[in-house]
This record gives sequence, C-alpha cells and structure tokens, in this order.
Amino acid sequence: MMRSSLSLLAVLVACQGDKAEPIVVDGPTWDEVAPIFQERCVHCHQDGAVGPMRLDSFDATVPYGDLIRTAVVERTMPPFLADGSGDCNTYTDSEWLSDEEIATVADWVDAGMLAGTAEGQLDTTEPERLEDATHSLYSPEAYTPGGGGLTDDWRCFVLEPDLEEDRFLTAWEVVPDNVEIAHHATIFVPVDTQAAEQVRALDEDDEGPGYTCFGDARAQATLGAIWSPGRDVYRLPDGVGIRVGAGIPMVMQMHFSLPDDEVYVDQSRFNVVLAEESDIDKELHPFVLMNDQFEAPPGEENYEHTLEVNLGDQLKMFGNVDYEGEIELVGAGTHMHLIGTSSNATAVSPDGEETCIIDVPRWDYFWHNIYFYEEPVRLHTDDTIRATCSWNTTGMSETTIWGDDLTDEMCAFLIPAVLVDEGK
Ligand code: HEC
Repeated sequence: MMRSSLSLLAVLVACQGDKAEPIVVDGPTWDEVAPIFQERCVHCHQDGAVGPMRLDSFDATVPYGDLIRTAVVERTMPPFLADGSGDCNTYTDSEWLSDEEIATVADWVDAGMLAGTAEGQLDTTEPERLEDATHSLYSPEAYTPGGGGLTDDWRCFVLEPDLEEDRFLTAWEVVPDNVEIAHHATIFVPVDTQAAEQVRALDEDDEGPGYTCFGDARAQATLGAIWSPGRDVYRLPDGVGIRVGAGIPMVMQMHFSLPDDEVYVDQSRFNVVLAEESDIDKELHPFVLMNDQFEAPPGEENYEHTLEVNLGDQLKMFGNVDYEGEIELVGAGTHMHLIGTSSNATAVSPDGEETCIIDVPRWDYFWHNIYFYEEPVRLHTDDTIRATCSWNTTGMSETTIWGDDLTDEMCAFLIPAVLVDEGK
C-alpha cells in the first residue's frame, strides 16, 4: 500500500573548491517509490523470477533508473494491459499503475534517485502455488521447440484428465518447465467428443508430442484458460466453473519464444482444480466476441475499426448458448496479433446506457492475458456491444484482415459470462 508521506527535502552538500554550498533538492525518495515497487514489480523482478533484472532493493534499482522511467511512463511495465484505474473497471491482482504512481517514479528518477530514510531492501515474495489442484496435466514426453529454424513455436498438447463425469475448471496455474522459452499458454476445451477425436488425431499425425497450432486448437473448442509469466494462480470467483465434459481432453497451446539457436526442451505443467458439479452454483461460459469485419489498409499509423453487434447473437454464435436475459461477466481479456495498438469494448443498453467492458490503451501481443473484475459486470443479451480495435499498418504492404496467421490480425474479446437466469 502507498504510505502517505510528504516528499522529503533532501539536502545535499556540494563542494566547490573550499566553499560548501547546500543545494536543496525537492523530490520523491526511495521511501515513496519502494511501496510501488513492492506491490507492482518485485514478484517479477527478484532472483529467479521472469524479469531480466532485480528491482528488489534500492541498490539493485538505481542502475536502471532511466529504463524504469521510460517503461513506466510508456506503460510497457508492469505488463498489465487493461486500464484498471476505475474509469473502466478494477481488477483483482491488478498491476495497473495510477497516474500518481507513474509521476512519483518519474520524478524520483529526475531528481537523481534519492535514498530517503527507508531500508533499501524490499521483501521478496514466494510464488503462490495451486495447493488444492486436483489434476496435474502435462505432455507425457518433453517437446523440443524450434524445428526448422523457427524462433517462435506454437504447439498444442492434448492433456487427458480422464474424467468419468463432467467436472468444472475453477482454478489453474501453468508451471513452466523452461522459463527461458515458455512465453504464454492458452488452454482450449473441445466442445464435444467429435472435436476431442479431432485433436487426438492431430496429435497422432504430427511427429513428436503435441501438434503445430496457431491461433486456435484447429478443432471446435472453447477458450478455457490463459497463462502469462509472472502471474501464478488464476482463480475464478467462488461457485463458478467452466465445464469439462466426461472423456474430453484439454488442449494446452504453448507459445515458445527461442532467444537463440540452442536446443531447449520443455514439459510445462497445467495444474487445475476440476471441481465436482455439486460445488458449482453457475456454469461459466467462456465466450469470445469478435470484430472480424475490419479491412485495414497499409500505411496507417493508427487505423481504427468499430463493430456494433448484438450481445445475444454473439453469445449464440460463439458461445453456443441460446439465452435471453441478464448475464454477468467475471472478467475480460482482449486478443490481437503483432500490429494491434489498442482495443476496447463497451456495452450499450437499448435505452443508451453505456457499460465499459475492457479498455486496453496499449496492446502488447506478448503479454495477452485475462483479467478478473473486482466487481462483476452485469449486461443484458439485448445490449449492443461496441468493439473497437486499432492497428499500425505502416509496415504492411497489403490490406490486413481477420485471420489465424501471425501476419493476419484479430480483434477479439474474451468475456467469460454467467447466465443470471439459468438454472446452472
Ligand atoms: C508480470 C511480470 C512483471 C512485472 C509485474 C513487472 N515486470 Fe518488468 N519485465 C518483465 C519481463 C519478463 C521483462 C523482460 C522484457 C519483456 O519480456 O517484456 C521486463 C523488463 C523490464 C524492464 C526492461 C526494459 C523493458 O521495458 O523491457 C524494465 C525497466 C522493467 N521491466 C521495469 C519494471 C518495473 C519498474 C515494474 C513495476 C512498476 C515492472 N517492471 C513490473 C516482467 C515484469
């Protein structure tokens, strides 16, 4: 938490020849910066964590002052993409910096990174673990990504929880086997036994563990879970869960990013809580709303496209849910590819009332994630969703449209929804 303390007046004594002149520097000190770093940086920037350097003490931090200033002012760090200021929702485990926090860090660097009176060392944190996992799922064989000179490799692993009855995914973690290359994971749940057979066949036909996939699981599947480094345990609100049918596998799509042409192997684990139906009050329908109508011409720094769609129609089409009434979103995420710059979605009720769903002012493909609301967002299937994305097409030579390839683009919104008036 932010301590309420006034900027200390740090008095420095500068020696000019034999004449000592006190210069008074008015600026924030480590006392003000330390609580921000403690809460928003240290868990990723300590020994053994994903960040490339330690930011867990005054001495460790000072050499990176200018880099830190740029990163926080441009909001590239912390890599929390959803505006969590309260203008458009607030999120659990939020790493969104307030404007005041950014100003404090910037002013601290500008004033010469004063030590203050607080102890320099911050508390390092142990990563949270999913202690109550019911299943630990992983590919039976380790995978060696990067065949054929790839620097990025997307691989789908078919994980079999061997369920004899339907269960509900309520919490998960991905424990990366090789933190150097495991960049993020997306978990899909095939919609039926036919789709399940399809992913098993893809696995069978592709040499080595898993199969090549990009964008989706190459079979009809709902998006179940996301993981991105530095985020430990993902837990859905109490009493809600995502159905995983009896006999249905889960498909873990790993994105491996290879720093060089060394040989790396990985066998990351997907640990889950698969709760019994009796522990669930409401099924969560993880559904993806899409603006797939854009045609972004080349040469535009910020090409923006908005699509207005009826929420109920989208739920039917992309969530396989035929339902009319109120729905409650538990969180949101956005998905675009490499040239996406920003995205946001707002619900507009028939009488014109607007509800912000998510606002990502600066998109970063390498940090896509799902964010859970502190307070659920209530909408109605009669609402219109205004889905807007922007792209920087200055490096493109042709019109960019929706597609699965990395050189195509997307404008998708993950909005896991509970149907308020549904029995379960
Ligand atoms: C979720 C984990 C995570 C959090 C939280 C986080 N960082 Fe980082 N940081 C990284 C990773 C990983 C990198 C390496 C570059 C990359 O992958 O984007 C990085 C890189 C950096 C860099 C190098 C320059 C750059 O922009 O790439 C700076 C500076 C930095 N972080 C500062 C911070 C500060 C300051 C905070 C807190 C206010 C913070 N980070 C919070 C994971 C994190």
